[in-house]
Amino acid sequence: MSPTYSEYLRLEELLKLQTGVKDDKRKISNDELHFILVHQNFELWFKLIINELKSTIDILSSTYVEETKLPQAVHHMNRVIETFKLMSQQWRVMETLEPQDFLNFRDELGTASGFESFQMREMESLMGKKWIDGKPVGKDEKSLEKSLYEVTCDWLERTPIQGSTPNSVDDESQVNNFIKEYLKAHKSLYPDTTQDAIDFFEEKSSLRRRRAGLVFIESYRELPLLAWPRKLISTLIELEESMILWRSSHARMVERMIGRRVGTGGSSGVDYLDMTTKYRVFIDLWSVRSVLIKKEALPTLNNPDFYEFKGE
Ligand code: HEM
Repeated sequence: MSPTYSEYLRLEELLKLQTGVKDDKRKISNDELHFILVHQNFELWFKLIINELKSTIDILSSTYVEETKLPQAVHHMNRVIETFKLMSQQWRVMETLEPQDFLNFRDELGTASGFESFQMREMESLMGKKWIDGKPVGKDEKSLEKSLYEVTCDWLERTPIQGSTPNSVDDESQVNNFIKEYLKAHKSLYPDTTQDAIDFFEEKSSLRRRRAGLVFIESYRELPLLAWPRKLISTLIELEESMILWRSSHARMVERMIGRRVGTGGSSGVDYLDMTTKYRVFIDLWSVRSVLIKKEALPTLNNPDFYEFKGE
């Protein structure tokens, strides 16, 4: 038998959950009901984001990611991006709570704060941001699950550079040649900042190959085989950007609501929230932008056929 609308969505249970702490018989005001509903809405969107991020990681974590799978990964991330954009607008609803009216029930929260949102921490951790002792760090070695950041790094490291893959016998020299020619071109165009480009590549071998792969994809963007990898990279950037903008709009809403008061979670409040907008997980994806060079100056492409679509 087909379920009713309300059975399928389990609405009766869902709509009973806006009471504040369980078994608390306190009468909830309109403003507090609003406050609870807005938070619950966000947490439901977080659930969606976590699920989509996990699916993206699943796709990118296989040792060989088929070209046909990349659109699927982009599709999952686009859903996350649209959700962050929507959530950035949702602060407007929160702002219909007047600062003085918030004070009427702020004490009820005690030390409860979005700070403790375990789904927020899971989102960050799936993206690649880990926390140690309350401080954000780039990578937590103890974590078993790979993050989006880590699977992206692994995937980038396998990028065919001038037609050479990590399994090719002369891969190292092919990659080194590409970097050498690229830096030569860079120097002739932007001598003042070439040191930045040198520093970008000058790292231990896996990082060097990964960054060279990233530069390669961003540089030879019109090649058919690189079309989806390029799209994937710009989607990752948009994903992180949408999260930063969402954090930023939360900070502005909070500033409007509590000014410079400290947070219920014990942080400095707005200053802390503004600080979180400075984090970047996909650091290389952002910094590669400062070392790109114009198309006409790029090293000649070897093995162009490799990057064409191959028919059956
Ligand atoms: C009146 C409304 C709100 C105020 C005044 C407010 C204030 C704050 C403050 C001051 C912090 C910093 C931590 C602390 O010391 O407590 C914080 C963190 C946070 N808030 Fe809000 N918030 C509000 C609404 C919301 C809503 C509706 C959500 C949605 C779930 C939310 C999610 C978060 C999250 C996830 C954090 C942790 C951010 C991080 O550590 O990166 N907040 N909030």
